[in-house]
Amino acid sequence: MTTTEQTLPKVAIRPVLKGNIARAAHPYGCEAAIKEQIAYVKENGKFEGPKKALILGASSSYGLASRISLAFGADADTIGVSFERGITSPEQTGTAGWWNNIFFRQEAEKAELTAKNFIGDAFSKKMKDEVIQYIKNEFGGKIDILVYSLASPKRIDPKTGDVYSSCIKSIGDEVKDYSINLEKQEIFEQVVEPATEQEIADTVKVMGGEDWELWVNELMEAGVLAEGFKTVLYSYLGPEITRPFYSGGTLGRAKEHAAETSNRMDKVLKEKLGGESVICVSKAVTTKASAVIPILPVYASALYKVMIENGVHETPIMHKHRFFMDMLYGSKREYDEKGYLRPDSWELREDIQAKVKEIVDQVTPENFRDLTAVNIFTKEFLQLNGFEIAGVDYEAEVDLEELRVLLP
Ligand code: NAI
Repeated sequence: MTTTEQTLPKVAIRPVLKGNIARAAHPYGCEAAIKEQIAYVKENGKFEGPKKALILGASSSYGLASRISLAFGADADTIGVSFERGITSPEQTGTAGWWNNIFFRQEAEKAELTAKNFIGDAFSKKMKDEVIQYIKNEFGGKIDILVYSLASPKRIDPKTGDVYSSCIKSIGDEVKDYSINLEKQEIFEQVVEPATEQEIADTVKVMGGEDWELWVNELMEAGVLAEGFKTVLYSYLGPEITRPFYSGGTLGRAKEHAAETSNRMDKVLKEKLGGESVICVSKAVTTKASAVIPILPVYASALYKVMIENGVHETPIMHKHRFFMDMLYGSKREYDEKGYLRPDSWELREDIQAKVKEIVDQVTPENFRDLTAVNIFTKEFLQLNGFEIAGVDYEAEVDLEELRVLLP
């Protein structure tokens, strides 16, 4: 909602990048991107899946893709929880996730599906209570799946009020390698400092499984989980190249904690509801969260180059729709020895990784544009914010007054 009472002008909205953070989003570009993702799902097949879904982190990338796949692939009614902001001034014209929530709901309602958005802190007790009350009183049935797709820099512990910050650091040794500055379209040497024990523990507190388990337990105690209920959290393992700053670093520790949590919840869910808890190890994709992971943009740009050449490049909607249709609700589940589901197997194919490593080893500030698909990484990043979407008139002035009355 706007904090300003002034009449808002009509403005042309242009991309604004500060390093790898987007400071502007185009509402109608986001609308067009939602429609493109829905069209992708419709073209790529329906599946027998859940009828009632709760998605935490539903407003962008993997969470949004999950919501679109479940709604338009399986005709699921959905509840989405996210942390987003609408128009607050002529310069602050709302986050991409704000517009995604609005336009997803509009499209779902046209298809006669319920799409309820909750905006606020998913880590809080208040949000859990509100969602539970909504399921009990208005949603029209218990939930069949909880998708946990939050990526957050901080978490307030609901019991103590203490604030924890997550960080993306290595463990043990410092790591030094090239990363990409999307704003300047340059690569630079980035240093990843080793984390302290406290930083590791704090990252686990934010990005580990504690809040996921709180959600599942509270939903279960409230009696709003259906027979056969499933829950899934998205993890990343990646190849050896990304290990020092990802799976072997602070985020990796948090994901290990989430996996332990999943094993525990799986037993309970099997016993009580004939359900399951799974870890879906997902591929590296361009998102608000991944663009600020140190060093990852160079790896991802090299990966895209090779995956495109091999015809297996995927955006979040492609990856998640395949995951739900073929694996979670299909007959082509790929498990690893730890029992994780592995749709990331395309990324990790030996031939693909051999070529990616060859590229990453050769990258310099002079040749990275030729060697990698940094153009695709950049384009996908802009598209997350509603820019560079075919058919959108970016010269046209957007009527902010008209837009500010739209609510999620
Ligand atoms: P994203 O930044 O695009 O989305 C994060 C979502 O969480 C947004 O909907 C945001 O509004 C919501 N959110 C953040 N803090 C919140 C809060 N306190 N309360 C309510 N909502 C909140 O992130 P992305 O990349 O889609 O990540 C989702 C999950 O997928 C993460 O767990 C990430 O580790 C995992 N993953 C991501 C990969 C990637 O390459 N991007 C690869 C493999 C796993």
